[in-house]
Amino acid sequence: MDNKEVINKTIDFVKDKLRGDSSGHDWWHIYRVWNMSKKLQEKEGGNLFIIEMAALLHDVGDWKFHEKEEEGIDIIKNWLDQSDISESVKIRIVDIISNVSFKGSGVKDKMESIEGKIVQDADRIDAIGAIGVARTFAFGGKFGNPMFDPNVKVKMHNNFEEYKNSKGTTINHFYEKLLLLKDRISTNTAKQIARERHSYMENFLKQFYDEWESIK
Ligand code: ADP
Ligand code: NI
Repeated sequence: MDNKEVINKTIDFVKDKLRGDSSGHDWWHIYRVWNMSKKLQEKEGGNLFIIEMAALLHDVGDWKFHEKEEEGIDIIKNWLDQSDISESVKIRIVDIISNVSFKGSGVKDKMESIEGKIVQDADRIDAIGAIGVARTFAFGGKFGNPMFDPNVKVKMHNNFEEYKNSKGTTINHFYEKLLLLKDRISTNTAKQIARERHSYMENFLKQFYDEWESIK
């Protein structure tokens, strides 16, 4: 199989795996991350095949939808074993996917390769701006979280366990994660895009509070 074929088969595999998702991790999220990753690669470089494969597969084994993180990684390894990709490329793809997620405001990122930085940046860009707002409310609704409650305080998380088990409001998620992302983006190309999307979210929040208090 050549690279193009592997990518096309992977697209079908991912579409099938994520079918029916309503938490903001559906095929169209993957499609946007994949496209953004390719756009970032044009400016920032890196191995395009590794970037495309990691972007396409990055949410297939997401921890939120499996009992254990390792379970998700096994699904990806099994898939990669089915196409004749070299062992070293497989390792690089799996390594990116294992490190792509945001795991709490106090948990440091440890992505090292340019390929990984690009996919992580593209994933984070899709978590902010208008799409970020929409995905966050979709997620909150799906998991039964209240939209907003002025009495529920924002909580910063210093470890993944805490972050994973938190049951805050959707508005609080902006402070626990979304507004922090612009400073946790690696490439200059993505930083520029993130700045604009970040200010869009700030405007959204301002309008939201004004409407909440009947100011506007
Ligand atoms: P990552 O892409 O870093 O793994 P997640 O998959 O945890 O991040 O989150 C992707 C998106 O899902 C977030 O950007 C947000 O829109 C939504 N999301 C995740 N956790 C929450 C939450 N607790 N409340 C609201 N939205 C959430
Ligand atoms: Ni994602």
